[in-house]
Amino acid sequence: MTDTPLSQAVCTGTRVAVIGAGKVGSTLAQRIAEKNIADVVLLDIIPGMPRGIALDLMEARGVERHDRQIIGTTDYKDTAGSSIVVITAGLPRKPGMSREDLVKTNAKIVVDATKQAIANSPDAIVIVVTNPLDVMTYLAWEASGLPGNRVIGMAGVLDSARFQTFIAMELGVSVREINAMVLGDHGQLMVPVPRYCTVGGIPITELMDAATIERLVQRTRNGGTEIVELMQTGSAYYAPASSACLMVEAILYNESRLLPAAAYLQGEYGLRDIFLGVPCRLGSRGVEQVIELHLTPEEKAAFMASADAVRTNVTRAKEIITPVPETV
Ligand code: NAI
Ligand code: 2OP
Repeated sequence: MTDTPLSQAVCTGTRVAVIGAGKVGSTLAQRIAEKNIADVVLLDIIPGMPRGIALDLMEARGVERHDRQIIGTTDYKDTAGSSIVVITAGLPRKPGMSREDLVKTNAKIVVDATKQAIANSPDAIVIVVTNPLDVMTYLAWEASGLPGNRVIGMAGVLDSARFQTFIAMELGVSVREINAMVLGDHGQLMVPVPRYCTVGGIPITELMDAATIERLVQRTRNGGTEIVELMQTGSAYYAPASSACLMVEAILYNESRLLPAAAYLQGEYGLRDIFLGVPCRLGSRGVEQVIELHLTPEEKAAFMASADAVRTNVTRAKEIITPVPETV
């Protein structure tokens, strides 16, 4: 009998393909397996590396007490039959860079990864994590050929989690009591909406003065940058992996959870043909409903400015992946 290397063990249960086995991808694989949500296929372009990470995660199983299979691979065929594909492949930011600076490198990676993953898992729902998030989600959707409800960008859960954290720290209350809502793009123009943030059901506008709320809003907008500047060698990955895992769980378990995520808009909020952060009902069909909030004129203006920035960057990204032919 020949031994099958552990990292090559066959996934037999519901599987999630995680494309990109870097910081976010490997941490997400760990969360999905250790929460016993699904088997995981971890794919990267670096030979050996995803197999090594998968083997390491497999060896933790006896301690973590689960039987989920985690395989590492560089071959998309191994991802076949995945129920969810999470795209984390691409470069993270370095200090001084904006998320938009990543368009050039990440656009081609995301398009290629989505095409190959969907060719092998045509029934999958795609969750995009790679930055700049709203732009990459649009490119992934176009590349996938899937209906809009089956491609979703992860950002709102993370940005709302950051806002929740800062509110909890400011008020000295348990973060479990807090619900927060952040709309718009995953960038400097994101729109935290204090009116829809509550502590034990009480709007934060009744618990903090306007200046304090504005300080927490700014810290939320700057949440990713704050971590990049502290780490110096990459960007956040624990909270991003937790956020993507929550979305995976909501979809696989058909939980009908109301979560903020970048969804394809087809008239909601007066916008069409764009992915932008809005509250969504997530279930087994992906985005099952986009919830339209009543926004004040100021909130609406901020949301539209965010949409304009995303459209500009989508146009720029499309030019990068489809260069204009040179005239002779
Ligand atoms: P990382 O550098 O640790 O990992 C990226 C991985 O992608 C690397 O292992 C690399 O080899 C792999 N990769 C590159 N090209 C590939 C290809 N063509 N096919 C498959 N794999 C490929 O970066 P990290 O920290 O994991 O971040 C990944 C992405 O997620 C970045 O773009 C980052 O900005 C973004 N991000 C987005 C968040 C959000 O809220 N949407 C939160 C955190 C990160
Ligand atoms: C973040 O917000 C890098 O977008 C990532 O941490």
